Amino acid sequence: MQIVAVTGGKGGVGKTNVAVNLSVAIARLGKDVVLFDADLGLANVDLLMGLSITHTLADVVSGEKSVSDIVVNTVSGVRVVPAASGIPEMADLSHENRSELIRGLSDQLVKPDVMIVDTGAGIDQTVQTFVAACQTPVLVVCDEPASLTDCYALIKVLRHSKNIKQFNVLVNQVDSQHQGKNLFERLSAVANKHLDVSLSYLGSIPLDPYLKRAVQERRPLVTAYPRSPAALAFGTCAERLVSLPSEAPSPGMAFFLEQLLENAPAA
Ligand SMILES: Nc1ncnc2c1ncn2[C@@H]1O[C@H](COP(=O)(O)OP(=O)(O)O)[C@@H](O)[C@H]1O
Ligand SMILES: [Mg+2]
Repeated sequence: MQIVAVTGGKGGVGKTNVAVNLSVAIARLGKDVVLFDADLGLANVDLLMGLSITHTLADVVSGEKSVSDIVVNTVSGVRVVPAASGIPEMADLSHENRSELIRGLSDQLVKPDVMIVDTGAGIDQTVQTFVAACQTPVLVVCDEPASLTDCYALIKVLRHSKNIKQFNVLVNQVDSQHQGKNLFERLSAVANKHLDVSLSYLGSIPLDPYLKRAVQERRPLVTAYPRSPAALAFGTCAERLVSLPSEAPSPGMAFFLEQLLENAPAA
């Protein structure tokens, strides 16, 4: 099982769209995929997938719902866990309730092949915790100074506080593949030199009007317009992502959940 954190620092670069479309693209490769919405600021996986979420992890934490009530099976085959609302509530759980929650989630999510975690913007402790609980960090950047600066700051803090050395970079909203590769080379050179980290290039996603249209229609681009330039690019990145050599052993679902529970920010 591969656990992927989609992150990158700056808001609006396309993290949630990347998390959603990579999930759908990986599901189309025949894999079992869980998409875990851990964006405490703007949880909007449901918006992009056209889901009407009535219950979240918060209802499980409060004891009103069971895990099976909140996991959403989508037409694309991706199972969505609306967790953002609920993560802060976990901080107050007793030891027994924690164990029960972990057991419930692990049982219900029976080891997907891939779990994608949408972490939200920023580089704060919460984001760092989520990324560290995963095994494969994917940094989403675009060709704007603020995005590059934020991404660099995130790499730096993850390197120093979590000892993460291996990152994957996906450049979004590019005009050409060349622009994506070029931006990656620049970021990689600086990070390599000053932070002693290794960056791998996952690929680029073009700036695509079909993506905006899909967002408005509340459908994942890969489902709505599978032959659009960005959808094809997501397909390529998905293939690369699942064939990455695993540097570290999979932390596993239980470890991931334990980390979240241990480090959940207070409500
Ligand atoms: N490849 C792209 N082509 C066109 N528009 C894009 C692309 N990626 C992102 N966008 C635009 O940026 C907006 C923000 O994307 P989102 O995934 O919500 O960002 P984040 O999660 O990083 O805040 C989208 O609603 C869309 O309008
Ligand atoms: Mg987002």
